[in-house]
Amino acid sequence: MTTTHYLDHAATSFPKPERVLAAVLHWFAAVGVSAGRGDGAGCRRAAIEVAAARAGIAALCNTSESSVAFVSGATEGLNLALRALLHHGDHVITTAFEHSSVVRPLRALQRERAISVEVIEPGPDGGLDAARLAPALAARPTRLVCATHASNVTGVCLDAAAMARAARQAGATFLLDASQTVGWLDVDVGADVVVASCHKALAAPPGLGFVAVRDGLRLAPQKQGGTGSSQALDEHPTDWPAAFEAGTPNTPALFGLAAALRALPPDTAGARLAAAVARCEQLEQLLADHTPIRLLRPPPGPRVPVTSFVHRDYDPAELGAMLDSAGFHVRSGHHCAPWLHRSLGTRAAGTVRVSPGADTPPASMQALADFLLAL
Ligand SMILES: Cc1ncc(COP(=O)(O)O)c(C=O)c1O
Repeated sequence: MTTTHYLDHAATSFPKPERVLAAVLHWFAAVGVSAGRGDGAGCRRAAIEVAAARAGIAALCNTSESSVAFVSGATEGLNLALRALLHHGDHVITTAFEHSSVVRPLRALQRERAISVEVIEPGPDGGLDAARLAPALAARPTRLVCATHASNVTGVCLDAAAMARAARQAGATFLLDASQTVGWLDVDVGADVVVASCHKALAAPPGLGFVAVRDGLRLAPQKQGGTGSSQALDEHPTDWPAAFEAGTPNTPALFGLAAALRALPPDTAGARLAAAVARCEQLEQLLADHTPIRLLRPPPGPRVPVTSFVHRDYDPAELGAMLDSAGFHVRSGHHCAPWLHRSLGTRAAGTVRVSPGADTPPASMQALADFLLAL
């Protein structure tokens, strides 16, 4: 059976908007080359689109264009930032909500550089009180605070602005993983470094992310190679953003991102996020009194459109497969967030996650609820 209800926008948004498809196709049909990799008009055209994409991300992060580097995704960006920021013996404070693209590099850096990692667990309501950061920072000199802006399992948003303030007061750097929020919410929260993928709420193709640093901060590049600039030198350039962009870029995805950003409403926290969150709330209301289902709802307050649940009688993977057969594309398992399941009580098998988009019709949620209630 083909999927009729796509409900996994937290993994990647689908379908991409027409304007994004048109921009990507235009690159394949009429451009085909990358900025700085040739002398022709196509390279100049590519440079214009890349500059537009860079300006758009710089505006979202309230930094200058030269402080935005494009990478292959949040995974590369987070690895890069963590490796650039953490040195031998450093202490880092992070949260139990983190994605594997933070958790696993930190684990590797514990072995390689003997860093120490303190993980703040969620409170009883499933949120994270940012006030808990100050005592942790006071207890020990801390190089870095690293937090996701929103959980990709429960949808709860963390108070990133308060965390950024606390980190700054303690002299620590604040790294924000905005993968689940950029395009939905304001990511200009005062972080020193913002990293995100562009293929979720921003609706660009996969294989593209960014590292945006506050003006004045410069990270050491973690890979060297061709940058299309300073080509006679055998040393890697130090100028940003070229220093961070070694290798032929993902220019078709950058064309898609530029097109997506041109159409992004100035009020990113507005109607589209509200529409998607309303779909989650609709589903949660429909399932709330159904005893076999335990909803892992976020506390009241800012959230992104993610609803996780477990079913008393079905393993999440089994239920995911059943839903797939019935035409619902959801995601089951741990959602690459290995730490959070300790507090959710879902370590063994994870959850079923439903993540609608702004254009998901209410009928999709009703059909999903009807299916689940009939089990
Ligand atoms: C919170 C969070 N961080 C990081 C990532 C990694 O993004 P990517 O796989 O595009 O590198 C994801 C992707 O699901 C995510 O949800």
